Amino acid sequence: MRNVTKDNITDVFKGYMSDDMNPRMREVMGSLVQHLHDFARETNLTHDEWRTGIQFLEGCAAIESEDRHEFVLASDVLGLSSLVDMLHSREDATSSSVLGPFHVSGAPPLEVGGDMKRHFGGPVLLAEGTIKDTDGNPIAGAELDIWQTAPNGLYASQDEEQDTFSFHGLMTVGDDGKYAFTTVKPVEYTVPSDGPVGAILDACGRHPWRPSHLHYIVKAPGYRSLVTEVFPEDDPYLDQDTVFGVRNDLVMTYHEKPASEFPEGLALSGSVNEPFLAVTFDITLAKE
Ligand code: BEZ
Ligand code: FE
Repeated sequence: MRNVTKDNITDVFKGYMSDDMNPRMREVMGSLVQHLHDFARETNLTHDEWRTGIQFLEGCAAIESEDRHEFVLASDVLGLSSLVDMLHSREDATSSSVLGPFHVSGAPPLEVGGDMKRHFGGPVLLAEGTIKDTDGNPIAGAELDIWQTAPNGLYASQDEEQDTFSFHGLMTVGDDGKYAFTTVKPVEYTVPSDGPVGAILDACGRHPWRPSHLHYIVKAPGYRSLVTEVFPEDDPYLDQDTVFGVRNDLVMTYHEKPASEFPEGLALSGSVNEPFLAVTFDITLAKE
């Protein structure tokens, strides 16, 4: 086509795609370019604005490293990561939520009833629940990969003061599907905001805060793996999570209990002398 116009350029683009190309690629690329062109036409995008967008992408690429995933973070704060999650999550299972960039694979085993708090200060949190199938039956042998921030709001991978697997644990549940562990209550924290994504948040008048949460990846043979989080219902950022990760069924009450009610049979039994928090979060996995 030699007479390309602002009105026909989208169809021209689609016409340039080969008949032999992968059909799903055709659908996704065609739709992406349709929306991109419509966006430019609708907003009457200027050269300066286009250049700002390109500089944003270049800035993401420049800061990107093994420990800094700026493109994923951009997708997170734009709500795209959560939208893709929700498009593919099962109604009959526990909601999924963002993985985030701070999970470290290969966490050491954590016994059912084990402790992740160790020497760290802050309120003891006892987290427990049952991993079930969609009929409510426990899933024996399910695996729970757990991670969270330290009380300073940093994950192990962000903090030289913590060892590699600090606040990470890998638990395998027994026949009753029950998990339990103690930890320190996670704190709310900010996503990295010193790069191009931080500039976008600033430009939109948005803050970088996430409500406090525990992260879980739950796996069991024959079931769809689930990446999820649990949030306390009194967190000030619950209704303004900067990465859109909160779902109703992931918000739980953290009950304050006297030390005398701390249960037997856990790693910290007998050594908790102050009121502690307890949250029960049952998790439902859907079949593959
Ligand atoms: C997180 O919860 O660890 C997280 C999620 C998305 C972006 C940054 C952090
Ligand atoms: Fe997190």
